[in-house]
Amino acid sequence: MAKRSKYRAMRADQNGLISYSDEAHDTWQTLISRQRKCVAQYACEEYQHALAQLDLPNEQIPQCKAISEKLYDATAWKVAPVDALISFEEFYHMLANKVFPAASFIRSRQELDYLQEPDIFHEIFGHTPLLMNQRFAEFSHAIGKIGLAAEPADYSWLARLYWFTIEFGLIHSAAGPRPYGAGIVSSFTELPYSIESNAPKRLPFKLMDVLRTPYRIDALQTSYFIIDDFEELFELIEQDLLGAIHEARRLGMYEANFPLACTKHAA
Ligand SMILES: [Fe+2]
Repeated sequence: MAKRSKYRAMRADQNGLISYSDEAHDTWQTLISRQRKCVAQYACEEYQHALAQLDLPNEQIPQCKAISEKLYDATAWKVAPVDALISFEEFYHMLANKVFPAASFIRSRQELDYLQEPDIFHEIFGHTPLLMNQRFAEFSHAIGKIGLAAEPADYSWLARLYWFTIEFGLIHSAAGPRPYGAGIVSSFTELPYSIESNAPKRLPFKLMDVLRTPYRIDALQTSYFIIDDFEELFELIEQDLLGAIHEARRLGMYEANFPLACTKHAA
C-alpha cells in the first residue's frame, strides 16, 4: 500500500462522479459478465446473496456514490475513490469510519487476467457486496478500529488477518470450502484454483496461525484459512486482537512455503 503506483487515479468531479471512457466501460462489461458465471459456480452463498442484493450494473462502471447509497441503507458503510495505493494509516482510518477505499482506475484489456494492483473491478465486485452483510461489515469496521489503536510495528501483522479473511478467506459450506475473500471472488483464475487445485493448503482458521503465516502478493495463494461462518469473524473481534498481535510478534513468523521475492498484488 505504501509504494508508488504505476496507474493513474481517476478523479471525481464536484458531484463525486468519475467520468470513464467507453473503452473502460467495455472492460468492465467483459470482466463482470465472465466473473458472474464464475462466482455462480464457485463463490460462497453469502457472497452470491450479497452480490444479488447490491445489483451491480453490467454495462457500465458503477459510481461509488450509487453503491454507497445501497451500502449505507444496509450497514451504514460507504465506498470512496482513492489513489491506487494508500498508506496503512489512511486505509485503517477509512475502515474505522466505515468507508471502503476503492482504487478508481480500471485495468487495461491487456491485463484482464492479471494485475499488479487492485483496480475498481476488484474493489467493487470483490469487496463491496459483502459490506451488505452485517456481520462481515462489523468485522471490517473492527479491523479499522484496531488499526487506529495499533502502532506501526503492528500494521503488517494486522494486514495478515485482513489478507487471510477479507482478501483471501474461505468459508465452510455443505459443498465444502467456498471463497468469500475479495481477491478470490474478483479473480478469474484464483476462483476455480481456490476450490479445485491440490496445490494450496486449506487450513482451519486459527488466529495465531493466520497472524504468523506469510502470504504472497505476486501469484496465486499457497495457503488459505477456512472459517466456519461469519459469526466466527464476529467472535474474533470480541477478543483482545491487539494482544494477540503482540503475542504473534513475540513468537515470530512461520517459514514461507513459496519464494520470497514478491513485489506485486494479484487481483
Ligand atoms: Fe482488495
